[in-house]
Amino acid sequence: MAGPVASPADAIAVIDPNSYADWDTALDVFDRLRSETPVVRIESPDGDFDPFWLLTRYDDAMRVSKDNARFLNAPRATVFTNKTGEAFARQITAAQGEESPNLVQSLVQLDAPKHTKLRRLTQDWFMPKNLRTIEAQVRELAAKTVDRLIAAGPECDFVPLVAAPYPLHVVMQILGVPEEDEPRMLFLTQQMFGGQDEDLNKSGLANLTPEQILQIVSGAVKDFEAYFEGLAAQRRANPTSDVATILANAMIDGEPISARDRAGYYIIVAAAGHDTTSASTAGAMLALARDPEQFAKAKADRSLVPGIVEEAIRWTSPVQHFMRTATEDTQFGDVTVKAGDWLMINYVAANHDPAQFPDPRRFDATRDQTRHLAFGAGAHQCLGLHLARLEMRLLFEALLDRIDTVELAGEPRRAKSTFVGGLKTLPLRFTAS
Ligand code: HEM
Repeated sequence: MAGPVASPADAIAVIDPNSYADWDTALDVFDRLRSETPVVRIESPDGDFDPFWLLTRYDDAMRVSKDNARFLNAPRATVFTNKTGEAFARQITAAQGEESPNLVQSLVQLDAPKHTKLRRLTQDWFMPKNLRTIEAQVRELAAKTVDRLIAAGPECDFVPLVAAPYPLHVVMQILGVPEEDEPRMLFLTQQMFGGQDEDLNKSGLANLTPEQILQIVSGAVKDFEAYFEGLAAQRRANPTSDVATILANAMIDGEPISARDRAGYYIIVAAAGHDTTSASTAGAMLALARDPEQFAKAKADRSLVPGIVEEAIRWTSPVQHFMRTATEDTQFGDVTVKAGDWLMINYVAANHDPAQFPDPRRFDATRDQTRHLAFGAGAHQCLGLHLARLEMRLLFEALLDRIDTVELAGEPRRAKSTFVGGLKTLPLRFTAS
């Protein structure tokens, strides 16, 4: 690895879950790095993680995302982890028969040709044409969610009441998980994604060691796998039109997919489809609560809702990073990334690049946000992006129908997480008719 090296303080800021809870300070670090050293080597001050290249410019993040032959997902951990984490994942997966740096093997941990084949299984299901068949069902869930909000009013915490349960409910219906099992799925998802935040990982313990976090995450993975094997067996016996049925009976090259691939697929849809959309939903609500004029405008004109939804997704960038591994030497300006090097695509930094998004910290629902990178790009671009947009649009349409005014009733707090992040509390005061 040859090129600029970040200071130890900046290295910590990039990988420390606490940094992302302090959003503006994190954005300041990314802004400085982007203008001084847009491709910079991040080295562990105490040697506990392997070095990687951090990309903070939109153009570089886009280039790496789209070049899926040169920048692979599978060889190294796809979500940043330290050496202990990777060794632990390798140990557990080796015992299961196929050693991997990732505990779960799902679409994001795979490359072509297997990735392409697995993705094709459900690709059509997630396209707008098919989603129209579930629109009425999602609209009903949105209306019920708003009923619940109004019943809890006039003051509430929007995250546990609306932003968290609504996307979970939608994704569980898609997967065919019965309502009574949803709390268990929420618990497991939060253990997997909220491992770094004591409020979210359900351990009740602050400052867990990496080993303790991994124990929590691997326990959650095991529980998920056992649960979804049971669900697949049910769908084989009684097929429906849901994603669970497609996966239960899925074949590749004339062979049924393996139990591990099926479990990974269920887990990625269950997990990726839930906390992400919660975070962008809470972010959209925060922006509206801070800007009564924008709220009134949207209430009068629903054609503004898609712009609010898309800007909220850029502005929050709930998936904060994914990692890639270079397969050959590649130049980024003066910096040479060598074959085998590990890279971090930081979506938060890319989506706050002023070269693409003027005044990027401002929430501007009228900007051209369709180029944002919050859903990634290239072969791995978010499978659920149309679903996420649909869910958010229907929820905000239902909210604007019933809520007249909304304002902050306290200071919102963000989760401590390097991976999927966003608000964990959003205290609101509202009036409804
Ligand atoms: C605002 C909400 C969401 C955001 C910001 C988001 C973001 C992302 C990102 C950044 C990626 C990786 C893209 C890349 O590597 O280029 C991804 C992949 C994925 N997302 Fe989403 N996502 C969201 C909602 C959803 C939903 C609702 C679902 C499904 C129900 C979903 C399912 C997936 C799956 C299955 C993948 C893996 C695709 C692959 O590797 O081929 N996501 N998402």
